[in-house]
Amino acid sequence: MALFTGKKGIIMGIANDHSIATGVAKILHSEGATIGYSHLPDEDGRGRMEARVKKATDGLNPAFILPCDVSSDESTHTFFQNVKERFGAIDFFVHAIAFAAMDDLRGSTLAASRAGFLQAMNISAYSFISTARAAAELMPTGGSMITMTYLGGERVVPGYNMMGVCKAALESAVKYIAFDLGPKNIRVNGLSAGPVRTLAAAGIGDFKSMLTINSAIAPLQKNITQEDVGKTAAFLLSDWSQSITAENVHVDAGYHVMAGPSHALEKLATLVQKPH
Ligand SMILES: NC(=O)c1ccc[n+]([C@@H]2O[C@H](COP(=O)([O-])OP(=O)(O)OC[C@H]3O[C@@H](n4cnc5c(N)ncnc54)[C@H](O)[C@@H]3O)[C@@H](O)[C@H]2O)c1
Repeated sequence: MALFTGKKGIIMGIANDHSIATGVAKILHSEGATIGYSHLPDEDGRGRMEARVKKATDGLNPAFILPCDVSSDESTHTFFQNVKERFGAIDFFVHAIAFAAMDDLRGSTLAASRAGFLQAMNISAYSFISTARAAAELMPTGGSMITMTYLGGERVVPGYNMMGVCKAALESAVKYIAFDLGPKNIRVNGLSAGPVRTLAAAGIGDFKSMLTINSAIAPLQKNITQEDVGKTAAFLLSDWSQSITAENVHVDAGYHVMAGPSHALEKLATLVQKPH
């Protein structure tokens, strides 16, 4: 029997095949999960966002793909009402959503505008509180939920700027929501992924350098993949992690423990010694 046989849940945050959430969907599907998805509603009503999620989940037998804009209480409420009608109860919930306007993200944290900051916090941090609340309503006998975060919420990562502040709020929300939902046997964890090339990552200044630095410094000397995230997500969402909650699990090849360049320095030394 596969890990998710007979289990149902929702994944929010697929934009295309490169999305971190798509990696999670693939692993959960391969382990027998029944999954419903959200897509960001199109402003022009042409259905391009829905089509992208359809394409990314092609072959994954989606139970449904429904619109949800997490910056709207009404849209969030309607989405979860629809989930309730289709699924009744759910076992797991994946939140993989973040947004900041490019101007605010690319500028220094000090330069962030009030409106840009509030929008980024609303979509990237508050949305986990509102969707976790709605998802918990559908977990009468318990369940597991995760959100996606990044090291920039714990430490200063040049280029991550204002999104680091949002991730710090998100990671704190994970702990407090885990406290709120613990008595209901609902576990809540953060998955802190290393850099992965996605649509959202394209907004981060000099993302290419982040990838180079990560793989050079990380103990495992590599960058991570969608599949790495998917497998850890499956662990956190399954009964195999039944006593883990309020945790921030790093899937970053160990990068977060390093305080110096280590292997990167050795590599640099070899390069310097090499005659041109
Ligand atoms: N890519 C990385 O390197 C990396 C590393 C660590 C954590 N993360 C986090 O993983 C999560 C997923 O990002 P990704 O990198 O897969 O990029 P992505 O662009 O594929 O996914 C971001 C998702 O957020 C959704 N979204 C944005 N605004 C929304 C709104 N108002 N309502 C509903 N959905 C909305 C988008 O539609 C998209 O599906 C984010 O929280 C991101 O911060 C990414």
